[in-house]
Amino acid sequence: MSATPAAAATATAEAAAAHAEAVSCTGLTYAFGETKAVDDLDLGVREGEVFGLLGPNGAGKTTAIRCITTLLPVPAGMVRVFGHDAAKERMGVRRMLGYVPQQLSADGGLTGRENVALFARVFDVPRRERAARVDLALSAVDLSDAAGRLASTYSGGMIRRLELAQALVSAPRLLILDEPTIGLDPIARTGVWEHINAVREATGMTVLVTTHYMDEADQYCDRVGLMHRGRIRALGTPEQLRRGLAGRKGTDTLPTLEDVFRDIAGSGLDDNTGGGFREVRSTRRTARRVG
Ligand SMILES: Nc1ncnc2c1ncn2[C@@H]1O[C@H](COP(=O)(O)OP(=O)(O)O)[C@@H](O)[C@H]1O
Ligand SMILES: [Mg+2]
Repeated sequence: MSATPAAAATATAEAAAAHAEAVSCTGLTYAFGETKAVDDLDLGVREGEVFGLLGPNGAGKTTAIRCITTLLPVPAGMVRVFGHDAAKERMGVRRMLGYVPQQLSADGGLTGRENVALFARVFDVPRRERAARVDLALSAVDLSDAAGRLASTYSGGMIRRLELAQALVSAPRLLILDEPTIGLDPIARTGVWEHINAVREATGMTVLVTTHYMDEADQYCDRVGLMHRGRIRALGTPEQLRRGLAGRKGTDTLPTLEDVFRDIAGSGLDDNTGGGFREVRSTRRTARRVG
């Protein structure tokens, strides 16, 4: 028996939705003077996945993220978020996403709850829903008990979770996290990832995360893009990339993602990390000031 036209149309629509791209960049290029931070970047993030943009400091991850979030313009190429053009529909794009920047975004002089409430107002969460949504976001990151304390009394891990709550309060379809675990100890890092995963399982939201911790990406990302000098050099599931390298090398032991990266970047990996230390140090300094 053949399906009715209506059922067939529904199935087609469902198939299209299943493959809908949350983020699509084609030919994205962004330069700071002579430095091409992002160089003809093609990137597609599927709806519902956790996608990791990996690479050493200076690879262009933050610049690409800023173009996707509309914080930077799109000088060349095309960026779409759930089909909306980031250059032409900036507000439309912003309404769909939650963003945890690499730099500190919580205010140490406010309580945890006040910080989240501030984001609820900025992101137009309807007034009537605000209190409930703020409580929900705080409880999603396990900060209900600490919500009344000043953020300046929080540990580094708690601050990162607070920033996660700030980004989640608007119930985004796409959560973008730039180095969410930088400078945290291993237990705090695991805590941040577990909360991201729990929210994602509950809501089905798409997650785009940058990190230079390859082991985390291997563990928590559905697919990864290895970025080096402004471009994606390899793309796939962590397993595919690792098996691919094992095949090329003809080895039985499965290499790590770090090995895959070294294979792609070659000797160019170490000479491009110059800005890194300064950036990490300033991030940590900011975290200490609050924490
Ligand atoms: N505001 C800026 N002014 C000048 N150069 C910048 C600026 N931000 C980033 N860059 C340069 O662009 C390149 C990519 O940086 P970035 O996107 O921050 O990389 P990542 O996030 O992967 O560490 C680096 O060479 C960096 O020094
Ligand atoms: Mg960065």
